[in-house]
Amino acid sequence: MAKEHRVLTGITTTGVPHLGNLVGAVLPAIKASEQKDTTSFLFLADYHSLIKNSDPEIRHHSSFEIAACWLACGLDPKKAIFYRQSDIPHIFELTWILSCLASKGLLNRAHAYKAATSENEEKKNQDIDKGINMGLFNYPILMAADILMFKADSVPVGQDQKQHIEMARDIALKFNHHYGDILKAPEAIIDKGKGILPGVDGRKMSKSYGNTIPLFGEEEALRKIVMKIQTNSLEPGEPKDSLDCNIFSIYKAISTNKQINDLQKLYEEGIAWGEAKKILYEELNSFLKPFKDEYNKIIKDKSFIEKTLIEGSEKALSISGPIIEEVRQAIGIKGF
Ligand code: TRP
Repeated sequence: MAKEHRVLTGITTTGVPHLGNLVGAVLPAIKASEQKDTTSFLFLADYHSLIKNSDPEIRHHSSFEIAACWLACGLDPKKAIFYRQSDIPHIFELTWILSCLASKGLLNRAHAYKAATSENEEKKNQDIDKGINMGLFNYPILMAADILMFKADSVPVGQDQKQHIEMARDIALKFNHHYGDILKAPEAIIDKGKGILPGVDGRKMSKSYGNTIPLFGEEEALRKIVMKIQTNSLEPGEPKDSLDCNIFSIYKAISTNKQINDLQKLYEEGIAWGEAKKILYEELNSFLKPFKDEYNKIIKDKSFIEKTLIEGSEKALSISGPIIEEVRQAIGIKGF
């Protein structure tokens, strides 16, 4: 029998799902969950959300919306282990164990922490750690525990998360070196074809930049957002570079090769920006419609969503339980 392959990915519950989450994480993860000989672990990283957000209502609502989103986008809970991070206490136990192995220097180099300290440097703050909590600093360890807890083989993530997977690898190998071959060093799976999806202002689409394209809003609101996408000032009739264009990058993420080639030709012929935005808006609308319809059905039944997640956590616990026991034995935390 072929060896079971474990794929794992999480989504932080700090906002409502947007197009970047959908094309970068949700759809690829759902597709992977349908493969044979694969066990998929898909989870709501609700404790990760504490790092940036202190509002309980937002956190709670966001968890619900994201769960509904995954189910609406076609996740079959029979084919994947779908759960909330907070329902698996073993992850937090492992986080501490790994914290005592990971060197502080490794975490000093984490992108999120470095970005926060360099912002302080730019503002000429005496204390480069001003306003930075330990959650932000430790976050790669919690993420390593999310992954190593289930001995995941591969982790589909955006390019921006690649460093975290490398850290999880480092930490797993260090654990194994000290305590024996127990943890699995995971591989990052980065979808090179699509790259990082830009938001309306051209920076990476991210809830923290407020530049996202929402999935389940009204059509008119979607149209207005698309019209706001930043472009250069080339006039209609002037040939345009599709490689350096936010509209094109977003279109590429949701379209077939034929559609992409057709739009490419229009760019060479000097399409007006207003026209390109109209094409993108129409495509986005029809791409999102089936997901939106399903979503509006699902959110009416909270108890179905809750039950699905509880069943998922039972499956997850039946895997994390024996692994944490193995880890405890290895580190000498065990009965006499
Ligand atoms: N940090 C990831 C993000 O912001 C979410 C996440 C948390 C995750 N734990 C994970 C992704 C484990 C993959 C594996 O996108």
